[in-house]
Formats: sequence, structure tokens, C-alpha cells
Amino acid sequence: MAVLITGGAGFIGSHVADRLLARGEIVVALDALDEQVHPEGRWPSYLDRRVIRVKGNIADRDSVMAAFDAASDLDSPIDRVIHLAAVVGVGQSAYEIERYVSENVSATAALFESLVEIGGIRRVVTAGSMSCYGEGLYEWILPGGMRRTGKGVIRSESDLAKRKWDAVLPYHANPSHRWTPVGTNEQTPFVCTSVYAETKRSQEELTRLVFGPRGISWSVARFFNVYGARQSVSNPYTGVAAIFSSQIRSGRAPTIYEDGDQSRDFIDVRDVAAAVVALLDSEGAIGAFNVGTGQRTSIRDLAEALLRVYGREDLGVEIRGTYRVGDVRHCFADAGRLVDLGWNPTIGLDSGLADLARWVESVEVDDRTDRAHQTLVSKGMVR
Ligand code: UD1
Repeated sequence: MAVLITGGAGFIGSHVADRLLARGEIVVALDALDEQVHPEGRWPSYLDRRVIRVKGNIADRDSVMAAFDAASDLDSPIDRVIHLAAVVGVGQSAYEIERYVSENVSATAALFESLVEIGGIRRVVTAGSMSCYGEGLYEWILPGGMRRTGKGVIRSESDLAKRKWDAVLPYHANPSHRWTPVGTNEQTPFVCTSVYAETKRSQEELTRLVFGPRGISWSVARFFNVYGARQSVSNPYTGVAAIFSSQIRSGRAPTIYEDGDQSRDFIDVRDVAAAVVALLDSEGAIGAFNVGTGQRTSIRDLAEALLRVYGREDLGVEIRGTYRVGDVRHCFADAGRLVDLGWNPTIGLDSGLADLARWVESVEVDDRTDRAHQTLVSKGMVR
């Protein structure tokens, strides 16, 4: 039996393919080879040659059919699907609204319709995103020592305009209480702060609504901030580790929004691939699973770690003091549900970033991050 990976030529998809191939699976990649990610629309050289390649859009029934036919021709029909194909720029989604909804939501709906009609699927894993949570969970300690947990409130435009960067705690927390961000778990309610996040929320819901009632086992892998080898350094709307890498390699200081104390959960793509395969195999595991390390890293610490890895501490960092609309202050994972399935992150930040750097040093870098920043400024998305 074979596994279909949509977006299989991508950063995460290609690592998932490697893991599946290593244990003898047949893997079919369906990928549109979007030129923002894949220059000239070509299959990337890092993709294992054993992957069966079908170039096409997930919204196109004939392309999906071609992927199924390719596997059937090898007497190994597709029975599991990993749905990773998506456009992923949070900032870009603020003004290319129709494209983001069409490529992430409508195209997913069309793909699922094709899958249901073609039949024979027993397991679906869809890529979700931590961006749906909005602000993460916090814990604060009352004067008597009692602990309280609650979700941070999304920062208001007027606070951000005054450069008050910290998130506000729920109304019953006094700002003078000692507080700290804690791991965000899957029960934390969603407060989407970007069009992109909303499209990922819709993908989760479509997965549940389409496959649940049909008795097809499904899960959502809610990715935190994924970095690593094969990340697109030519796409200026990708994650911050790739953006900083592109800047450092071009001899520029990493440009940090806010004050640099905002934090995220950075996870190496190989740990993510292992998590996706663990989920694929856990057919009794229905629902959403956070995919993060459970470690919190500030953006300033990330920038400094990357400067060390590239041996360019001389560049220093540039604190912009401006902010990107929709960014949250702190969010990192409580990945306990996935750990209960037997998965564990194994790659620490320093060794993961060293691997990212080896990759970045092996490719040509055309630093387009400044142009992307100017676009965000002109659209009012950086203030
Ligand atoms: C990222 C991904 C999102 C994915 C999510 C979970 C992007 C653009 N965002 O969201 O698709 O669903 O992780 O995996 O790929 N920052 C700077 N300077 C920069 C760029 C960013 O300081 O040049 C800061 C931001 O202000 C933010 C932090 O870095 O505070 C993280 O930004 P980013 O890498 O874009 O990640 P998320 O928005 O968390």
C-alpha cells in the first residue's frame, strides 16, 4: 500500500517522504511546484528519486486521480494521505486574501471530495498550525501562592502603538502578579489573528467533518515553528529562522520586530517528520496533536544563536521596534498528547540550527527579505 503526500516536494513533505521510504513504503508526491517556493517550477534536487512524482494542483481531480493511478500501476494502491500542500505566508495572507482562501480552503475541499469519491483511504493526517491559537497560555501566581492558568489576551492596536509589547492577561489577573508563559495545549481555544490562520482552522474542520462521519481515521498535526534543511530561503514569507539565515548570509544583521523578547517553539523538521509518521501510524489517535518541542526561545536568542552558527557575531542584531500586525507575544507547545503516542523531540536548537546553516550554505541565497518587509510596510501590515 502507498502513502500520498500533498505538497510532497516541499520542506516538510520531503522529510516525511524520506522517513517513509527508509522503512520501505511507496510514496507518491502530488505537488503544484509553486514558483514562490520552487524556482522555475522544477522538482527540487533534494527529493529522493524513489518518490513517485505527480505535478498538479490538489484542486484538480485529474491530478489527484493521476497520483492514485501511479500507485495502482505499481500494484500498491494509496490507502493513507498526508495533506501538507498549502500557501504559508502569514503576512502575505493579509492582502492576497482570495488566493489564500482559495488555495488552502477551497482546494482542500476539492481534494477531500476527490479522496472520498476515489475511495480506499483509511487514514488522513492534515497539517494544522499553532498560528490558530493566537496568544498562548500563561500561568500567574497570586500573592498567596495560588497558581492560575489562562490564555493571554490579544494585544490591542493602541497598546502596540505605544510599544507596550506584553500580552494582557485575562481580566482576573492583576498585572502586578508574577506571570510566565506555559505550554499551550490542544484544548486551548483558537483565536485566529491572520487570514492564513483562519485557512488552517478551516482545513482542520474540513478534515474532521469530511472523514469523521465516514469512519476514516483522521488527525491534525498542529505544527509549531518548523525550521531546518530544505527550508526555502528564497521565499521571504517563510519562517523567521530562514529569514534571518538569508539576511546573515547576505552580510546583514537579522531584523527583529518588537523588542526581541517575544518567543516561539522552534522545532527541527526531522523531529516534525517523525511526528507526522507517528501520527500516520497511530490510527486510533483521532483529533489534533501539537507538534512542538515544549521549549520556548525568544526571537533575540534565536537571532544570536544563528549569528554564532554562521560565525557572524560581528553583524549584531537590528531591533526594529516596529511590529507585524497579527503577531502574538508568546506561544509554545504542550506536546504531551503526542508524547503519549511514543514520540519525542530529539534534536536540540543548536544542533538543529547547525543543520539549517549547512543547508543554507549549500544553496544560492537571493535575499528578498527587505523587499518583502517594504511590501508589508506599504500594506500597513508592519507598523
Ligand atoms: C510561523 C509560520 C506559520 C506557521 C507557524 C507554525 C510563516 C510566515 N509563519 O508563524 O506559517 O503556521 O509558524 O508553524 O511561515 N520576526 C522577526 N523578524 C522577521 C520575521 C519574523 O522578528 O523578519 C518575528 C515575528 O515578529 C514573530 C516571530 O519572529 O514574533 C516568529 O515569526 P514567524 O517565523 O513568521 O512565525 P509565526 O508568525 O509564529
